[in-house]
Amino acid sequence: MNEHMHIAFIGGGVMTGAFVESLLAGHVAQAEDIIVSSRTMATLDALRERHHVRVTLSNREAAAFGSLVVLAVKPQNLHHVFADMKGQMRPEQVLLSIVAGADIARLREGMGHDRVVRCMPNTPAQVGAGVSVWTASPGVSDADCEVVRAVLAAVGSEVHVDEERYIDMATAVSGTGPAYVFLFIEAFVDAAVHLGFQREVARDLVLETMEGSLKLARSSHKHPAELKNLVTSPGGTSAEALYELEKGGFRTAISKAIWAAYQRTLTLKG
Ligand SMILES: NC(=O)c1ccc[n+]([C@@H]2O[C@H](COP(=O)([O-])OP(=O)(O)OC[C@H]3O[C@@H](n4cnc5c(N)ncnc54)[C@H](OP(=O)(O)O)[C@@H]3O)[C@@H](O)[C@H]2O)c1
Repeated sequence: MNEHMHIAFIGGGVMTGAFVESLLAGHVAQAEDIIVSSRTMATLDALRERHHVRVTLSNREAAAFGSLVVLAVKPQNLHHVFADMKGQMRPEQVLLSIVAGADIARLREGMGHDRVVRCMPNTPAQVGAGVSVWTASPGVSDADCEVVRAVLAAVGSEVHVDEERYIDMATAVSGTGPAYVFLFIEAFVDAAVHLGFQREVARDLVLETMEGSLKLARSSHKHPAELKNLVTSPGGTSAEALYELEKGGFRTAISKAIWAAYQRTLTLKG
């Protein structure tokens, strides 16, 4: 990345920790090029001790340092940041927001700044396997977009979308997605324990099955229904299990859950 690129993170929580770790591990940025501001010194001390990055309790000081300013506070804390930072960014700086539900119009108004990128990452970013969906306001140049792409690629894969409405949809799909997957894992492991497996063994069986199925789904050109049909013999165990899942409304529950998450995302905008 550009050797003069400085990155400021506003908010020193889980997502910032994931970004900082991956940016350093991937040599996308050096520790001295990164500054983090947060509300409490303990949060900052932990980041400084672990990553040797610059830290400050002043959001303004952090923002002044960064050419890219990453906004990573919870949606409910956004108004404090706006009150603190409105009009503080220089025109050439780029704001990259990962705040769920905060749309570009609100970010521009709240920060008094035009060059805004809105992104929805997800928590597997903590192990460099996240997926970040992002879009940029018209004021963001192609060169700025390349910097954003490099930063997001450090924590996994990145998907650019032209229209902001896809960010709201991605919030319900990939942003919230790990919660659905972890619930499924939990239920699957509990069911295996119910059968009589030790929990450790159950966990291994479930995770290996999920990982193997993912690999197969990725490498195969077959539709998931076709892959499912291949393990479903007439009158067999899969057919019996799938019947119970469908009877229990599994497919509809997933569809309704993702729709509900999307509706909730739209209400967060207000
Ligand atoms: N985690 C996810 O699954 C996920 C996925 C996609 C997007 N996001 C979005 O990413 C953002 C950050 O999420 P997170 O999980 O990293 O949250 P988090 O762990 O709660 O971190 C938020 C941090 O913001 C700091 N903070 C609060 N008010 C502040 C202020 N006025 N000025 C500066 N810092 C302030 C907190 O400070 P102290 O610790 O110093 O008190 C905290 O460390 C959220 O908007 C969320 O919607 C999260």
